[in-house]
Amino acid sequence: MTDRYAVFGNPIGHSKSPRIHAMFAAQTGQDISYEAILVETGSFAAAVNAFIATGTGPARGANVTVPFKEEAFRLAAHRTPRADAAGAVNTLSFEAGVVIGDNTDGAGLVRDLKNNLGCDPAGRRILLLGAGGAARGVILPLLLENPAELVIANRTEETAARLALEFSRLPGCAIGVKPDGIGFPGLAGRAFDLVINATSAGLSGAVLPLPTCVFALRCVAYEMVYGRATPFMNQAQAAGVRVADGLGMLVEQAAEAFFVWRGVRPRTAPLLAALREQQ
Ligand code: ATR
Repeated sequence: MTDRYAVFGNPIGHSKSPRIHAMFAAQTGQDISYEAILVETGSFAAAVNAFIATGTGPARGANVTVPFKEEAFRLAAHRTPRADAAGAVNTLSFEAGVVIGDNTDGAGLVRDLKNNLGCDPAGRRILLLGAGGAARGVILPLLLENPAELVIANRTEETAARLALEFSRLPGCAIGVKPDGIGFPGLAGRAFDLVINATSAGLSGAVLPLPTCVFALRCVAYEMVYGRATPFMNQAQAAGVRVADGLGMLVEQAAEAFFVWRGVRPRTAPLLAALREQQ
């Protein structure tokens, strides 16, 4: 019987996940099905339980996307340390009636940086823009890569300061650098080797008040959004630095989820190239 997987979200029609996982399954010879499920607000747990209870073949896992990652966090009976740090779950595994929550977003970003972009976070001065869910999900994985520094800058300074403080005292984590949390005015005169936009400003076309100096020579500017040129990408381009969008992170977080479920790591380069061609 074919093992069943799905992605839950709202909206979900645009999701590339079914195609990505179908390609991973074909490449690795895994017998799985993967569907996209639209969930109405307030019905997340019911939708997951219905997916587990009905259908032919055992339900083995699911991805969770906007706006249900925090609900998935609460639904999971057990969570991985990286899901706990993220405060959100994007990958569920169903094992013997138990729902296990994981978060592969941060690992996806780090793999995209290291393997696809040749940008190892180790020793780099990193600027993370934003202090919402997307930013929180990548802080621990970035810190574990031993950057020279990690500065979290946010429109609301207090949220950045609180987040930085929280990640400065993680029990049991061998982290060499403590993050700093500031407002955008605090960026004046500062330079970074990797600037990651984890704000949702790009989705509304809003321009971030970034001084050009934040983009150091040979800096990589990483936009978590994909499929459009955002004002952040234009700012970085105008500063003459290398720009990447979040398509690689999407593919790599999916590959990490596939690995969690199937124990096999698919190759991502061919898929990424195919998706880029369609962009
Ligand atoms: P997500 O899950 O995408 O991270 P979120 O948790 O709502 O969404 O967080 C959105 C982030 O984008 C926040 O850091 C927000 O800044 P505030 O904390 O000040 O609200 C940031 N953001 C959204 N629109 C922005 C804009 N126009 N300019 C600057 N920052 C913006």
